Amino acid sequence: MKITKINKHINSSDYKIKQITAEEAFTVRHPVLRAGKPIETCAFDGDNLETTFHFGIFDNETLAGICTFLKNTTPCTSEKAQYQLRGMAVLKPYQNNGLGSIILKHGERVLKAKNINLVWCNAREVAANFYKKKGYKTIGKPFNIKDIGLHYVMIKKL
Ligand SMILES: CC(C)(COP(=O)(O)OP(=O)(O)OC[C@H]1O[C@@H](n2cnc3c(N)ncnc32)[C@H](O)[C@@H]1OP(=O)(O)O)[C@@H](O)C(=O)NCCC(=O)NCCS
Repeated sequence: MKITKINKHINSSDYKIKQITAEEAFTVRHPVLRAGKPIETCAFDGDNLETTFHFGIFDNETLAGICTFLKNTTPCTSEKAQYQLRGMAVLKPYQNNGLGSIILKHGERVLKAKNINLVWCNAREVAANFYKKKGYKTIGKPFNIKDIGLHYVMIKKL
């Protein structure tokens, strides 16, 4: 399939951010993060907990980007009020148009308003620069996640 880059001038008012369900998030997780793998591999532990937030950014009816925040702790920091960012993904034709930045910022604002002080993630090596640009710092040494590859723990104080 030929993929056409959307390449719109990003004006955040053109896009709507909504809280979505885990199942809705699968529609982006699957092609972007689990391509060619069974749909069940898109599920994360804790996806359906009340403390979990899934956000989606829509171009009209199309869910174009997603991120999930889970109430999980990393031993890499002693901060008590922390959340894990997982499943940060933007559909290929929409990538590099600012959508990932917009939705991540939205999630961080929601968490900050709930007195969460720190967000961490296991960043894929290819995405580490994206997180770095968004104010995340690597902690410790890189590690391997089977079938996915090298990752870094990255944290951001909100
Ligand atoms: C990583 C991802 C979520 C970023 O979303 P996006 O909408 O494409 O990113 P943005 O357009 O908001 O980019 C913001 C900045 O990060 C940079 N950036 C984006 N993706 C990058 C990448 N993979 N590597 C390095 N820099 C990247 C952009 O160039 C941009 O820089 P600028 O502000 O200096 O212009 C998206 O590209 C994606 O889904 N990638 C594949 C899945 C993935 O790797 N997810 C992360 C799992 S840990």
